[in-house]
Amino acid sequence: MAHTILITGGAGYIGGITTETLHKEGFNLVVLDDLSTGHKENLFKDFPFYNGKIGDVDILKKIFSENKIDLVIHMAGAALVKESMLNPQKYFDINFCQGENLLDVMNLFGVKKIVFSSSCAVYGIPKESDIPINEDVQTKPVNPYGESKLLFEKALEWHKKSNDLDYISLRYFNVAGSSDTRGENHSPETHLIPLVVKAAKDPGYKLNVFGNDYPTKDGTVIRDYIHIIDLANAHICAINTLIKGEKHQSTYNVGYGQGYSVLEIVNAAKEVLKKEINYVISERREGDPPVLIADTRKIQHDLNWKPRYNNIHEIISSASRFTN
Ligand SMILES: NC(=O)c1ccc[n+]([C@@H]2O[C@H](COP(=O)([O-])OP(=O)(O)OC[C@H]3O[C@@H](n4cnc5c(N)ncnc54)[C@H](O)[C@@H]3O)[C@@H](O)[C@H]2O)c1
Repeated sequence: MAHTILITGGAGYIGGITTETLHKEGFNLVVLDDLSTGHKENLFKDFPFYNGKIGDVDILKKIFSENKIDLVIHMAGAALVKESMLNPQKYFDINFCQGENLLDVMNLFGVKKIVFSSSCAVYGIPKESDIPINEDVQTKPVNPYGESKLLFEKALEWHKKSNDLDYISLRYFNVAGSSDTRGENHSPETHLIPLVVKAAKDPGYKLNVFGNDYPTKDGTVIRDYIHIIDLANAHICAINTLIKGEKHQSTYNVGYGQGYSVLEIVNAAKEVLKKEINYVISERREGDPPVLIADTRKIQHDLNWKPRYNNIHEIISSASRFTN
């Protein structure tokens, strides 16, 4: 029988496309989202949708009573680094305290498997010698967003010890691109690739390049961009591992192990989209690490994850389909 998965944050960018991917794989889904940054258009009418907060114990009990949930994918969260510096309590509330309620209700209903959307922000500013970053590199977040993700990872570990929870935390690097039906749609958008695409489509829009004096080849920061479909497939690998009860580590990096500077992305987008891109160099953003590149050997080896779209031109082209 098909397994039923509760996906929190299923109306968001990654949640919507992961729901679509899991649907194609034959999973049943139930979505919980408060639509604070998500969109109704990302939902699938085939699946029950609960409009509420992950911290709301009553709605959580209703969901687990009305559906036989086998596993949870916990993607709901607040994810703006700058906002987290201005309003840390929001990030500790949503990403940690509310998530803790989810774990408690899961335990109450005997649901013992969860995949968590963590972030490379848990690593803070890694030493040059730690690039590419493996999962054993010291975690030292430099903003409340990264700290709140790390706190939730720690909560997962304690629930594993105390309540036999089996979990996999996926530390995403920079996710980009679209599926056949959905694309990235954050408001405000802070991610480079959709902003580069916007700059290509709108000659009146100037892209901000935050700093060109980093110790990198062209002075701009370097990131590891992963196609959303490969990321969604990493979830399928994690789910199957948990369902089959196979051996695994608790955390895995998800990226390609390859980095591109901001200016390399701008140049790649010019080639792919055949448009000029206006940009302006502005001040560095506080807490922006010079280089974030994942070492992803562990997820490929342990979970048998096989990336298929490791091509920056393809990622940009895919992102441009749904970006205005
Ligand atoms: N996009 C990336 O590159 C990236 C990188 C690393 C980690 N992540 C993590 O992946 C997850 C999804 O990111 P995204 O880019 O799809 O963001 P998103 O904002 O599109 O999705 C987050 C979803 O969570 C919902 N949500 C927020 N707070 C909630 C709450 N209290 N209760 C219920 N629902 C709530 C929002 O309405 C939204 O639909 C987040 O946890 C984010 O931290 C994303």
